[in-house]
Amino acid sequence: MVVLAMVIGLAVSLLVTCGAVLRWNEVRYRKKGLPPGTMGWPVFGETTEFLKQGPSFMKNQRLRYGSLFKSHILGCPTVVCMDPELNRFILMNEGKGFVPGYPQSMLDILGRSNIAAVRGDMHKTMRSAMLGIVSPPVIRDQLLPKIDEFMRSYIDNWGGRVIDIQEKTKEMALMSALKQIASIETGPVSEALKAEIFRLVLGTLSLPINVPGTNYHQGFKARKRLVYILRQLIEERRVSGCYHDDMLDSLLKIDDSSRGKLDDEQIIDLIIALVYSGYETVSTTSMMAVKYLHDHPGVLVELRNEHLEIRKGKSREDAIDWSDYKSMRFTRAVILETLRMATVVNGVLRKTTQDVAMKGFTIPKGWRIYVYTREINYDPLMYPQPLSFNPWRWLGKNMDSHQHFMLFGGGARMCPGKELGTVEIATFLHYFVTRYRCANSLIFCLE
Ligand code: HEM
Repeated sequence: MVVLAMVIGLAVSLLVTCGAVLRWNEVRYRKKGLPPGTMGWPVFGETTEFLKQGPSFMKNQRLRYGSLFKSHILGCPTVVCMDPELNRFILMNEGKGFVPGYPQSMLDILGRSNIAAVRGDMHKTMRSAMLGIVSPPVIRDQLLPKIDEFMRSYIDNWGGRVIDIQEKTKEMALMSALKQIASIETGPVSEALKAEIFRLVLGTLSLPINVPGTNYHQGFKARKRLVYILRQLIEERRVSGCYHDDMLDSLLKIDDSSRGKLDDEQIIDLIIALVYSGYETVSTTSMMAVKYLHDHPGVLVELRNEHLEIRKGKSREDAIDWSDYKSMRFTRAVILETLRMATVVNGVLRKTTQDVAMKGFTIPKGWRIYVYTREINYDPLMYPQPLSFNPWRWLGKNMDSHQHFMLFGGGARMCPGKELGTVEIATFLHYFVTRYRCANSLIFCLE
């Protein structure tokens, strides 16, 4: 009896203490003008719910508090914004109260000069160098022939085998990037880089605790090794003086007087950012496009017809060129619809540099803003019947339209790799649907 009373007493006092701590944390952030929402536990906030429940956490909070609400996630007080107009405003006003606000682990592992972290003039310089190596003329003349050659051979012997499409598209995105960046072909160097890059990616999505065994620690070590390998590569190129037709050579040869001239540390961070930004987005979109094509035979037929038309008059070994790519109207629509349906990018993070007024609320200086675009992808007003995979909805749409904006970001940070990414996915799909005529010749193995 006494034990039971003690247990009940303990449980009650635990409940009271928890309630008091939660209440204290709410009061701590009860500042006039903040949007509604909950702040969870001290330090941890609502990170566990956010990570565990993912999109449904956001959905539920939106139902309770509307499209602008406060929370405390990933170690920072944060305002989540799901309002399309406000999101556009935030992205278009970089520097006027908003700067990128990516987590510490990402900043540490991707480097001080990482393009997504730098601001002002430094950002302009890095971005100008980046745009120079992925511009449409460069893609047309240098990158597309390489991408074509890579995809053709990569996809060649998939017939009659069980293919883990997730693993294959990940490897494809990475190997294609390494070939474009530093002419690295499949072999021991690419295998070493692949392992480091996989560890680096995992590290950026972890809590910044530098203890052996943690993903953060592994990611940090991977960065060090990658920097070492890239430094050696740069040295070798300088000593040999040989010409290489790739991005690294273009970056090393930027004229001293040019605005896009970078030092070695900046070149290395730019290359790491390039691999990092393209890897997850291109591989996930390619994988999900294959899944949607499998699930929607009508789309597969239309897409295949577009590509068979392109192959008319070409031999098996003939490459596709820029005008072929430009003619892939339906393929581009399939890629955009895949980005929307699969929500390849959930949103982007910003930080306020001053108190900012939004929709009658005041967001304090130093808070994070999660420009959350996922829900907008399923908004029936923007996309009638939002849950059906319908690439035709994109045909004839202006590529600068609102919807397009939500998929690739906007303003000063708009994705510089969107054309390159689209070319890679389109070329992959070209060989996928023309080499494998029958949907059953591949067994889909998605996790
Ligand atoms: C389907 C493919 C892709 C999607 C959906 C995508 C999406 C995005 C989005 C939404 C942003 C904005 C981030 C922000 O505002 O903070 C962004 C930025 C960026 N993307 Fe992409 N991306 C794709 C492919 C690529 C590729 C292939 C590259 C490599 C060339 C790339 C390089 C970058 C870089 C460097 C930034 C940062 C730009 C800056 O801060 O100025 N992306 N991307």
